[in-house]
Amino acid sequence: MINVVARSTYLRACLNPSRSFVKKSMLLNRASFHSAIGAVAIPKLSDPSLLRHRAFVNNEWVSGNTSDVFAVHDPATSKEIGLLPDMGTEETRDAIQHASKAFQEWSQTTGKTRHDLLKKWYDAVMENQEDLATILTWENGKTIGEARGEIAYGATFFEWFAEEAVRTYGTVIPSHMPSQRFVTIKQPVGVVGIVTPWNFPTAMITRKVGAALAAGCTVVIKPGAETPYSALALCELAQRVGIPAGVVNVVTTHKHVADVGKELCLNPTIKKISFTGSTQVGKLLMSQASSTMKKVSMELGGNAAFIVFDDADIDAAVEGALASKYRGTGQTCVCANRIFVQKGVYDKFAHRLAEKVREFKVGHGFSIETTHGPMINEKATEKVKHHIEDALSKGAKLLVGGKHLGGSFFEPTVLTGMTKDMAVSDEETFGPIAALYEFDTEEEVIQAANDTPFGLAGYFFSRDIGRVWRVAEKLETGMVGVNSGIISNCYAPFGGVKESGVGREGSLHGIDDYMNIKYINMGGI
Ligand code: SIN
Repeated sequence: MINVVARSTYLRACLNPSRSFVKKSMLLNRASFHSAIGAVAIPKLSDPSLLRHRAFVNNEWVSGNTSDVFAVHDPATSKEIGLLPDMGTEETRDAIQHASKAFQEWSQTTGKTRHDLLKKWYDAVMENQEDLATILTWENGKTIGEARGEIAYGATFFEWFAEEAVRTYGTVIPSHMPSQRFVTIKQPVGVVGIVTPWNFPTAMITRKVGAALAAGCTVVIKPGAETPYSALALCELAQRVGIPAGVVNVVTTHKHVADVGKELCLNPTIKKISFTGSTQVGKLLMSQASSTMKKVSMELGGNAAFIVFDDADIDAAVEGALASKYRGTGQTCVCANRIFVQKGVYDKFAHRLAEKVREFKVGHGFSIETTHGPMINEKATEKVKHHIEDALSKGAKLLVGGKHLGGSFFEPTVLTGMTKDMAVSDEETFGPIAALYEFDTEEEVIQAANDTPFGLAGYFFSRDIGRVWRVAEKLETGMVGVNSGIISNCYAPFGGVKESGVGREGSLHGIDDYMNIKYINMGGI
């Protein structure tokens, strides 16, 4: 006689014959997936001296005041890359003093001198692109192709701001007084505190530091604790090309990140804080910085709408969605978070998107066939899992993916049948889920797209020129991609509205955030 437990197991297997097989093969697949990842060799650097295991202050490689260190890991394997000093308030204060001393001379250099040095730094980055990309992939996990792209993208900020350094024009203002003349000049704000994230370990630094140095400011940088090696490699190159001591400083920290951030924000010698990261941390830094009325640039979280209208070129929209959504495995502030598709093309779009996502190959960033690397760490996969479970429990359908592959790996996922009550609607996933909402009218989708406190980027695909203008004007975001899924570059202003931040980076506006306008009234004429 079959006992009760065995019988019910048997019945379940009959009702769902593939179930036990799937479970077993999933486990086997997962084990072989991870052993393949563990077997991937880290490429050797042609210049190993770019991998620095110390912080960088006043052109010196320094340890902290204590023996405190923290480890940096390869997100794909969790293997340790190296140890760095875990610095705190005192070391930050010391770096600020060096930056302040350096400011006395750096702020007096000509725009042409700063142009020449930034241009040399740009050349050095491009000459070392492969090594810098290797370091970036190793500590961040993105594919080596994406990392090479980020190095080139990051370097353009040095080139662009080198060219802006010689164009910080003032104005001559027509006077209403016959005996007076009015002019304005632009001057560097002073020492800048820079706090950057792990998702673009190079480009988020160059976008800020390029502008700051071009303006005549000096900087103290706190890079993301997960990805400090890219920042330090940039410092090694800065030193080689002759950027003077104290102009660029990097404080490394993990445990004391809140203390270092606080010191940067409270210290009166720092005149500006530039931060890229979450809205929550941005608000904290902004409130701390208000105590000494510092200038702030805040590039914060988003909840980007990506809209596909019936009249769109669907293939182009699919390509745009793939690029916008899955770049960096869904870990960019400008990633599409809510994909709204008009009724008439919903099924077609969903089907084509799912087909393409099925072709993705998740793996170690150094594997040649990998299209999408790991997330930054295992913890980051939890929100993705939560968003999927929440959506499925409220009626969404899973078209592709949906599984945590163990460690930091998550399958690129497509969900359909999304509704407003689901967590993705209000929270930035920061992971590889394309969440598809169906809509009817232009008015309805604009209302839905703007129904968020965030306003960084928005995207839409349409071939109707009237609609293009109407929707571009009505989206409450700092940036809009029309028939384009990738909008970031050094030439255009990057930044948000609403709770996505203040200030603009890159473009002709980027340098202004690091300068004060001084008005000079000349009388007695
Ligand atoms: C970000 O995610 O913070 C920046 C993305 C970009 O530069 O495109």
